[in-house]
Amino acid sequence: MKAISRLTAAISIASLLPLSALAGQVEVLHWWTSGGEKRAADTLQKLVEAKGHTWKDFAVAGGGGEAAMTVLKTRAVSGNPPAAAQIKGPDIQEWGELGLLADLDDVAKAAEWDKLLPKQVADIMKYDGSYVAVPINVHRVNWLWINPEVFKKAGATPPTTLEEFFAAADKLKAAGFIPLAHGGQPWQDGTVFEDLVFAILGADGYHKAFVEQDKATLTGDKMVEVFATLKKLHGYIDADAAGRDWNSATALLINGKAGMQIMGDWAKSEWSAANKVAGQDYQCLPFPGTQGSFAYNIDSLAMFKLADAENRKAQEDLARTVLEPEFQQFFNQNKGSIPVRQDQDMSQFDSCAQQSMRDFKEAAKGNGLQPSLAHGMAASSYVQGAVFDVVTNFFNDPDADPKKAAQQLAAAIQAVQ
Ligand code: GAL
Repeated sequence: MKAISRLTAAISIASLLPLSALAGQVEVLHWWTSGGEKRAADTLQKLVEAKGHTWKDFAVAGGGGEAAMTVLKTRAVSGNPPAAAQIKGPDIQEWGELGLLADLDDVAKAAEWDKLLPKQVADIMKYDGSYVAVPINVHRVNWLWINPEVFKKAGATPPTTLEEFFAAADKLKAAGFIPLAHGGQPWQDGTVFEDLVFAILGADGYHKAFVEQDKATLTGDKMVEVFATLKKLHGYIDADAAGRDWNSATALLINGKAGMQIMGDWAKSEWSAANKVAGQDYQCLPFPGTQGSFAYNIDSLAMFKLADAENRKAQEDLARTVLEPEFQQFFNQNKGSIPVRQDQDMSQFDSCAQQSMRDFKEAAKGNGLQPSLAHGMAASSYVQGAVFDVVTNFFNDPDADPKKAAQQLAAAIQAVQ
């Protein structure tokens, strides 16, 4: 049975149950507006509605969520935040410090979240020892997506190293395809940059650069090499890349116009929505040079304090639902991510998700599991913004100097620390 029809079956059973006497409304801020991601968000809406509550969708378009965060700040400043908002990583602590987040410990204790979640994940969701957010999933950022049919037509080989990546790009270019489908937006430039850092500096170097923000690493020879490689890569994107949304870039692959895309596995949501099959119609490869490592991006919903008891009940039901196995399966199958529950049965997931779960667990045994900088897991949004500025300016300036860029990177990060 397809995920959606299983979801419908589950909901019709749920709707036979007596509705809770306290039905409230949850307003949920997110940026899942692409065709595939909307299908994932809909699964949450349906499960919350099946519990008798009303869902108020607060979707703010814009990949990476920058626009959504700006809107959230405005709403919070005016004293009217939504019940739940997709807030991630270290930023959860910032919102906690403002005293605006609700305590979810009752729900978390009853459902034993401490046992279900890896400790590192649970810690991110807590402020001052109490749960204030619920994790939804684990996205992997270091993926390369390829269209195998396009590769075949171009006589290109799926790459495992950066050298092979550029060799494949040359073949694709010679055969008249767009080698790399890219959207020229700062967060997408940042995503590509982060993958190059992971490949060229390795997991330890990546950690030093983005988590420790170590100056010598940020300005070192390998970082200069990253910028030089980024410049080279610019030669393989098309002239219309500026401003393009990530899902439009994915569509270029799906429609056979481009050969590769560097993107986290939310890209898979678009392939799934187009009824394409992992391993057949498309392939997911760990980004060349990062095999066995895993840059994680955990989506989570932080909950805001609410005055109304019924809305509070709806908010708790929302939080409870997110970590239930049913939601974890339906949502993640549509979203492209893997469940954040480590005990989830993966047999219903496709080959990319199964590989992702295997690699996540393997990487977690050593230092291969690293937080994504481009997706707000490694550092604050201020550091993330500083990195995006330097990277995007560099990427769009044909005369920019890699050595200078590395110096600027360190200075920009230092200025916001
Ligand atoms: C990420 C987010 C993903 C996905 C992506 C594209 O930051 O974690 O869930 O939405 O942006 O917008």
